[in-house]
Amino acid sequence: MESLQKYFDTIESALADIEYAASPDGLYAPVRYELSLGGKRVRPLLTLLACEMFGGDCRSALHAAVGLEVFHNFTLLHDDVMDKADVRRGKPTVHKVWDENRAILSGDAMEIIAFRYIARTPAPHTGAVIDWFLKTALEICEGQQYDMEFETRDDVTEAEYIEMIRLKTAVLLGGALKIGAIIGGADSADADRIYRFGESLGLAFQLQDDWLDVYGDPARFGKKIGGDILNNKKTYMLINAQRRAEGADAEELSHWLSATGYDPAEKIAAVTALYNRVGAGELCLQQVDAYSRRAIEALREIALPETAKQPLYDLATSLIKRDH
Ligand code: IPE
Ligand code: IPE
Ligand code: MG
Ligand code: MG
Ligand code: MG
Repeated sequence: MESLQKYFDTIESALADIEYAASPDGLYAPVRYELSLGGKRVRPLLTLLACEMFGGDCRSALHAAVGLEVFHNFTLLHDDVMDKADVRRGKPTVHKVWDENRAILSGDAMEIIAFRYIARTPAPHTGAVIDWFLKTALEICEGQQYDMEFETRDDVTEAEYIEMIRLKTAVLLGGALKIGAIIGGADSADADRIYRFGESLGLAFQLQDDWLDVYGDPARFGKKIGGDILNNKKTYMLINAQRRAEGADAEELSHWLSATGYDPAEKIAAVTALYNRVGAGELCLQQVDAYSRRAIEALREIALPETAKQPLYDLATSLIKRDH
């Protein structure tokens, strides 16, 4: 989106300018690798746009924006170990190029670098931004823990799933916006409203990520299709398939959820076919739509001219249509 390109370029160049100690290269090479693989840069874009929307100078939010993107990339390093994922952004994951120890330690280093950048937020907002960042970071750990615990449960409810994705994904979109709003000088009611926009957008975003994990084009999505199915991730699709499947379908689904020593391609094909039979993909897309609408409504409620909000509408629209 052209209106967003200049913000995107600013973020890319700030990420490329991060300075690392000269050694050990073994620690920093994976950090450089991860940050150079591209990515949509959604979270720092949200921060810069929110800051400007409330009349701030987006340069004062750049450190926080960089910190949030580095933090997001740190979560991906650890997430790919936890999810046994071999491919991200179309390239082998850090634990595949190097090893798991490297993904853990270089990930830890990224989390520290992220915090260093967040803490460079200029006065008078430094403390408030750090507080929001820390609250958000801990909630993401909580969400990731639920995500893992749900793999081995077969009674996860829709409400539990929504709360899990709120924590692991949505709070970072909300937090990125809130931090931008704080730096931009928003009052606390508006900072709350923009947080709610981000939270709903984040729920739509993760529901869509789950859908793309089944139905995406791997060349565009940049991740292997079917990873969630292999891990028995309790996605909205799986929970609804469990609820809707009857007779032979129900038996087949419970067989795959407890199966061991199977051919991965066979499990992915069988569970996907089952999702198709019960309409689980469609249901998931309806939820993406519902949360996207809720997000747009929350943005509408902010009492600023529509032109000031346009870049955020544009970003939200581009995310709703995304295929990667
Ligand atoms: C991936 O996030 C992790 C999720 C929360 C789904 P993104 O889809 O924003 O990943 P990149 O940074 O654009 O690669
Ligand atoms: C990611 O959820 C959430 C975090 C990284 C915190 P996923 O596990 O679905 O993300 P992808 O699909 O690997 O990007
Ligand atoms: Mg993952
Ligand atoms: Mg995960
Ligand atoms: Mg995913």
